[in-house]
Amino acid sequence: MKVLITGGTGLLGKILSEKLKPQFDVIPLGDELHLGEDGVKERLSAYSPDYVIHLAAYTDVDGCEEHQNLAFRVNVLGTRYVVEWAQSQNIPVLYMSTDYVFNGEKMSPYFEYDSPDPINFYGRTKFIGEEFVKNYLQKFIVVRSSGLYGKGGKNFVNTILRIAEQRGKIWVVDDQVISPTYNLDLADGIVKILEGNGMGIYHIAGKGAVSWYEFAREIIDISGIDANVIPISTEESKRKAKRPPYSSLETTIFETEFVRLRGWKEALMSYLETK
Ligand SMILES: NC(=O)c1ccc[n+]([C@@H]2O[C@H](COP(=O)([O-])OP(=O)(O)OC[C@H]3O[C@@H](n4cnc5c(N)ncnc54)[C@H](OP(=O)(O)O)[C@@H]3O)[C@@H](O)[C@H]2O)c1
Repeated sequence: MKVLITGGTGLLGKILSEKLKPQFDVIPLGDELHLGEDGVKERLSAYSPDYVIHLAAYTDVDGCEEHQNLAFRVNVLGTRYVVEWAQSQNIPVLYMSTDYVFNGEKMSPYFEYDSPDPINFYGRTKFIGEEFVKNYLQKFIVVRSSGLYGKGGKNFVNTILRIAEQRGKIWVVDDQVISPTYNLDLADGIVKILEGNGMGIYHIAGKGAVSWYEFAREIIDISGIDANVIPISTEESKRKAKRPPYSSLETTIFETEFVRLRGWKEALMSYLETK
């Protein structure tokens, strides 16, 4: 089976491509797909895949708020082109979405069928993508995840380590709770969905809920770096885009159908050991 991965050069896409290669004919694409521009369908046709994993997105949450036109073109129009093309070819799409489709007011982990209500532009564009996938395709998979880190791209863990080592002091928000997710575990989960012919909405994330501040503290503690982590509020952090105060994800459906997921701390330790 020929599996085309949009966003195949990103933090998730690189590792997922590696994981899929032994079993599938994998086509990882980066920016050359030019998602926000005309001709996406023709470019996809040139590869004639049997399955599309659509990861590509403009993922900078504050950037999306500032450059809404670009975010709309890449995340909304780009996804629409991918989905329309897949529909015309009767090809399944696995679409990667985010915890930021939720408003964060629930204050307990979100289930797969809780109602999305995004509060920033990035979340809105990703939710519209979900709607295209759900409404246009007979066979769809939506995977939501949260706070991704790992080898292969810019991410929170590496940023914390770098700043802590350089400055010995770092300020991190303590009023946003997430489920940090190791890209290796997410990639393994997506492979399981493909192998097991999964369908519908799945949450795949590190088990448990933690604030960015607690997560940063754990990164520093496990690494044994002598640095001071200082909690601040979302308001003090002065970011362009609003963030949900609580976007931890409940993973029961994935775990019932496929395999147990690791706790966020166990996964973090495993990542830091291999760094
Ligand atoms: N990171 C997180 O914490 C997180 C959490 C939950 C869900 N997600 C979702 O997971 C998916 C993957 O995230 P990630 O962190 O791996 O993303 P990433 O590292 O930012 O990579 C983004 C990917 O999209 C491609 N891309 C960007 N603009 C494009 C365009 N105009 N046309 C075609 N391709 C384009 C990039 O290609 P180039 O490398 O060539 O630029 C890259 O391969 C995204 O859909 C994201 O919304 C991420």
